[in-house]
Amino acid sequence: MRLLLAAILPLLLAVDVAAVKHEDFKECHQTSFCRRLRSIAARQEEAVANGTAFASPYSLGNPVATPGTQSAASWTFPLTSSLYPDISFNLRVDVLAQGDGIVRIRADEVDSASQWKRYNETAKWALVDAEPNLARSVDVQFAHVDGMTAIEYGPGPAQELMLEIVHSPLKITMKRDGMDQVVFNDRDLFHVEHYRAKQLDEGDEAEAEGTEAASSEDAAQAVMQAPKAEKIDRSWFEEDDKDAFEERWKKWTDTKPKGPEGFSLDFSFPNADHIYGLPEHASPLSLPSTKGEDAYYKEPYRLWNVDIFEYEADSPMALYGAVPLVHAHGKVNTVGVLNLVGSETWVDVTHQPEGVRTHWVSESGIVDFLILPGRRPVDLFEQYASLTGAAQMPPQFATAYHQCRWNYNTQAEVIEVQDEFDKADMPLDVTWLDIEYAEEHRYFDWDHKHFPEPKKMLDEVEAKGRKMVAIVDPHIKKTDSFRIYTDARDLDVLVKKADNSDFDGWCWTGSSVWVDFFNPKSWDWWTRMFSFNVWKESSKALFIWNDMNEPSVFDGPEITMPKDNIHDGGWEHRDVHNINGMMFHNQTQHAITVRDTPELRPFVLSRSFFAGSHRYGAVWIGDNLGTWDHLAGETAVFLSNSIAGISFVGSDVGGFFGNPTPELLVRWYQAGAFMPFFRAHAHIDTKRREPYLFEEPTRSYLRDALRLRYAMLPVWYNAFHAAATKGYPVIWPHYALFPEDEGGFAIDDQYYIGDSGVLFKPVVAEGAQESTVYLAADQPYYDYFHRKLYYASAKPRNITIATPLDQFPLLIEGGHIVPTRERVRRTSSLMWQDPFTLTVALGKDGSATGQLYLDDGETLAHTQGEFIHRRFSYTPTGKNGAGKLSSAAHVVYDGANAWAQKIAHVKVERIVILGHEAAPSSVTVAGEAVQFEYTKPVKGREPVPGKVVIKNPGIKVGADWEVVVAA
Ligand SMILES: *[C@@H]1O[C@H](CO)[C@@H](O)[C@H](O)[C@H]1NC(C)=O
Ligand SMILES: *[C@@H]1O[C@H](CO)[C@@H](O)[C@H](O)[C@H]1NC(C)=O
Ligand SMILES: *[C@@H]1O[C@H](CO)[C@@H](O)[C@H](O)[C@H]1NC(C)=O
Ligand SMILES: *[C@@H]1O[C@H](CO)[C@@H](O)[C@H](O)[C@H]1NC(C)=O
Repeated sequence: MRLLLAAILPLLLAVDVAAVKHEDFKECHQTSFCRRLRSIAARQEEAVANGTAFASPYSLGNPVATPGTQSAASWTFPLTSSLYPDISFNLRVDVLAQGDGIVRIRADEVDSASQWKRYNETAKWALVDAEPNLARSVDVQFAHVDGMTAIEYGPGPAQELMLEIVHSPLKITMKRDGMDQVVFNDRDLFHVEHYRAKQLDEGDEAEAEGTEAASSEDAAQAVMQAPKAEKIDRSWFEEDDKDAFEERWKKWTDTKPKGPEGFSLDFSFPNADHIYGLPEHASPLSLPSTKGEDAYYKEPYRLWNVDIFEYEADSPMALYGAVPLVHAHGKVNTVGVLNLVGSETWVDVTHQPEGVRTHWVSESGIVDFLILPGRRPVDLFEQYASLTGAAQMPPQFATAYHQCRWNYNTQAEVIEVQDEFDKADMPLDVTWLDIEYAEEHRYFDWDHKHFPEPKKMLDEVEAKGRKMVAIVDPHIKKTDSFRIYTDARDLDVLVKKADNSDFDGWCWTGSSVWVDFFNPKSWDWWTRMFSFNVWKESSKALFIWNDMNEPSVFDGPEITMPKDNIHDGGWEHRDVHNINGMMFHNQTQHAITVRDTPELRPFVLSRSFFAGSHRYGAVWIGDNLGTWDHLAGETAVFLSNSIAGISFVGSDVGGFFGNPTPELLVRWYQAGAFMPFFRAHAHIDTKRREPYLFEEPTRSYLRDALRLRYAMLPVWYNAFHAAATKGYPVIWPHYALFPEDEGGFAIDDQYYIGDSGVLFKPVVAEGAQESTVYLAADQPYYDYFHRKLYYASAKPRNITIATPLDQFPLLIEGGHIVPTRERVRRTSSLMWQDPFTLTVALGKDGSATGQLYLDDGETLAHTQGEFIHRRFSYTPTGKNGAGKLSSAAHVVYDGANAWAQKIAHVKVERIVILGHEAAPSSVTVAGEAVQFEYTKPVKGREPVPGKVVIKNPGIKVGADWEVVVAA
């Protein structure tokens, strides 16, 4: 291995490696609130390290039932800081009715003399219901004695969850079974910057000092009363920050009319060893430390959606999306925190012998976070979905292969590309158009010189059962000849500058404006823009790609909008920045849904995202580089996005920038075939690299990857269905499936597709002739292509798999039944009545189960009961592999629904039973013998599983049946 690396390294270095422009993006110390709040925290921690006791200046008064919440589990506590006794805050604690006992905690300044209010609408956009139902107070035990409140709650009568609230100094601990799971304000780093008047100029200093003196006395008084706080010092909290009310960076000035309004949260997870989440970062799934001696990164994880050019493959720098969610995981418990904040946020992570600690600083907004109790990752997925909703069931085509490039330049080229796929016998569902299809990058307006008859093109594409996607970006060309611009201007729905005039900036189209999708007035109008009688040159075969929605503003600070821009309701861009992309995604998705009657399933790809974006479609991970280290790093990004709901995710196959070698491209297609969203894309300056352009054997390897995706579409569809109904990720990292297997907690380079038992690991090293795969289940694993058997083992183990360029690790865990369609056609829509193959991978005990969900893949009829959902079970009935395979309804549904009838003739054409130890004497269906072939197992050091192949068993995939295998 070392030799291999030694061989590769010089090559890597030799490549002219493109690099992110660090100078375009801020580090924590370059942004005033982060510098301020993080240094307060650092000083406190340093004092503690020096042996000085420090206690939080924050404390709670006596709780009252939250006004307006009769007999519900909601309490409000007055919250004060001994340092600022004149300022009042409230802290509200809710126990929610849903999600096995989710607790929500909110804090805000009350009765403020300030004219300003903190942004309080993040929940409105992120959650399906901004005020979820509260648990009934009778179901929750509430006790308050002597500065301490205990709230016992939880799903069952056992009430194993408890919130222990220590009033002074403030500390809130969520316990399960008496063990601390989350401690809020464990390190006393909680702090909210109250609104204050701008510092007066020199002439007024005397007066200012007068007021200061009075409250300092109060402060000193309060500090003396606070227990164990010896050296607490208000000056720590009032660093002389010249940027507090106006912040300059490079050529930009942020006017900051509200002054400092940041806040700092500290959560410790005493029983966790790993912490995951906080997408989107190109970092390992198990987030490494950002502080302390073992710090892996020098900066905190940053959440600030940006258009980042040539990002690094391993970095805590902000990327395009943000979900302020973490899973803290240990062998016994997993617990989550969702922090509802849409402003710029930085998170420090440290790993200690006492567990994992996190410290969050945000620029603006109220404190509003939810504690998801777990106890295991699967519960967190359900709890998170109960808050933010589940993903939509995508249309079938969206789960197949997408071919994109910046750009297919003409109508003829689009047709040519799809014809070439046909000629090469390579399947393709969707051809994409990047920005050059639009006249002057005025999206919606076709460039008629190059696309003279877009409708004709769309119809031709549709006639082949395929679709197209065209880009519609949020920057709108500022010219009176563009109706989208004049409409939006006249409707007065554009984002404003601090002085309330329409904001303009620079993007692909030149001088541009941006619609404020926070303004409900823009919604119906945007929907109309996509209706077929307004956008006449579109069709139901055309779907949409929303890029650049961070938003990207080429001449803005950090390539985005100034923070003092103004949105609907007078809120500043700083308050809503991370939510912005989701608002656009939502409206486009809605427009695409309702443009047809009856409504069809939409498909909209977005680059930017926030908590809840999974409701609106897919995302991809932006402008990656066509290098081995990017390919290697991406798996962790997909998994990290996935556990935060964003699991319809993929990367630009081949890399956006650069010209991958044929070997790298083959490996990327193999990886792509196992990305939930599978799209090839490339920068305008790259060489053409459609898979049909390559010589053998590259061409065949690329075709194999494409065809494998199509054969496995039923496996993917099952996983997407679980995402849409249960909120599960489409791909599962190890810790989520094997939450007790410590050896797998940090694994982020292999994953399972849904509950299929299919385990995939991409090959991401140049020249790799073999790969190591980690197997956690005490089950046999079968090579997907039946080449090998890996014996069950009570202990997790590594296996080594040969991976010449046409091979990669793909395994089925014993105990699963995998449905596939082996007759691959040119596009997925043509496969709807093709027969199925069922691969039964016998478990250690000789049994296996699996499922198959099918619907029309296109309409919303599945929400009206038009689907089939089968459950397959193989049950051993005697020795030597005697058993029966049966099919029954997986959930209750009307077997006579229209879709079930339409596909009633669809057959199971082959059953493969892997792990069969002896030849069956017969196989019968309804008493009739059916043909089968048996292959004996090969034992020893290179075992091959015994296998029964039953051809044409004469059964229908949607029906109830039994296949009896006699010993
Ligand atoms: C901690 O101790 C060091 C060394 O004595 C000193 O320089 C520093 O000021 C102390 N920090 C605090 C916050 O007390
Ligand atoms: C936000 O705060 C304002 C002012 O206090 C209040 O009227 C509004 O109801 C709050 N909105 C939400 C969503 O909590
Ligand atoms: C999505 O749009 C609908 C209206 O079409 C609106 O009710 C909802 O609040 C929006 N949510 C987000 C996150 O934009
Ligand atoms: C599997 O291999 C990894 C990487 O070499 C190693 O860290 C781990 O300990 C191995 N696990 C087992 C169970 O052998």
